[in-house]
Amino acid sequence: MMQTNIDVKNTPKIHVQKDFLVVEQLSLQLENNPILNNISFSLPITGITTLIGPSGAGKSSLLRCLNMLYSTWGGEITIDKTSIKQWQAGEDNLRKFIGLIAQKPAIFPASIAENVTFGLPRKQRKQDTTTLIHDCLIQAALWDEVKDRLNQPAVSLSIGQQQRLCLARALALQPSILLLDEPTASLDPRSKQLIEISLRRLAKNMPILCVTHDLEQAKRLQGQLIFMCDGKIIETGESQELLQNPQKLETREFLRWEVCDCD
Ligand SMILES: Nc1ncnc2c1ncn2[C@@H]1O[C@H](COP(=O)(O)OP(=O)(O)O)[C@@H](O)[C@H]1O
Ligand SMILES: [Mg+2]
Repeated sequence: MMQTNIDVKNTPKIHVQKDFLVVEQLSLQLENNPILNNISFSLPITGITTLIGPSGAGKSSLLRCLNMLYSTWGGEITIDKTSIKQWQAGEDNLRKFIGLIAQKPAIFPASIAENVTFGLPRKQRKQDTTTLIHDCLIQAALWDEVKDRLNQPAVSLSIGQQQRLCLARALALQPSILLLDEPTASLDPRSKQLIEISLRRLAKNMPILCVTHDLEQAKRLQGQLIFMCDGKIIETGESQELLQNPQKLETREFLRWEVCDCD
């Protein structure tokens, strides 16, 4: 069901690229404060990239730039070589292709099934969505726990289940890229494990960028690792290698103490 091709009216045809999403010299100021400084990296067409760094490093701000929740950034962000600022499909459509999952699950006061289809256009919601709901809940590793109560209120679910429901809702829009901001920070171990399994499976077909405070999680998720501090990227590498053998002093300090003296 996942597709890496972005297929929307008026958007350029997407061809599979090695570097699907490319960020070049990204900078951001908020209220005259520099928040991001000269950020450059790319996400390959598939696989997980984890983003670590101390509180206030700019990780959430970076994700917000990537899906245009912040649009006043400088530099360039391209998806398949097309600047996201030039997308004729508009920001709302862009956000369908770049799913963003926050730390705290945002659940709508509706049933479990309705929460999955919440982001779909009305016309599509009125069609038979049974298969879509099933597929998305399977991919989000929630189906077995909710299959007999799809019409019950979503608020009755545990926080861990709600977070997986948010993942299912993002998947219903068939995103081409998934961004997750500390998605398992306050979850029970079982939900955390199920989300990690789900992300590793999804990453076979799409790029995923996941912010985490959990270094063990970064190790388990594998793939590329980016260490950010004070609005800058300090070091990037293969996650196991970088965690075991960091090259920069700042990274070593952070891995040792989970704090940093960059600023
Ligand atoms: N809306 C805002 N206005 C001004 N400064 C902000 C705003 N949002 C975040 N910041 C500042 O930007 C910096 C980076 O924040 P954030 O991206 O949330 O970091 P992280 O997710 O790594 O903890 C922090 O110093 C924070 O105080
Ligand atoms: Mg944050």
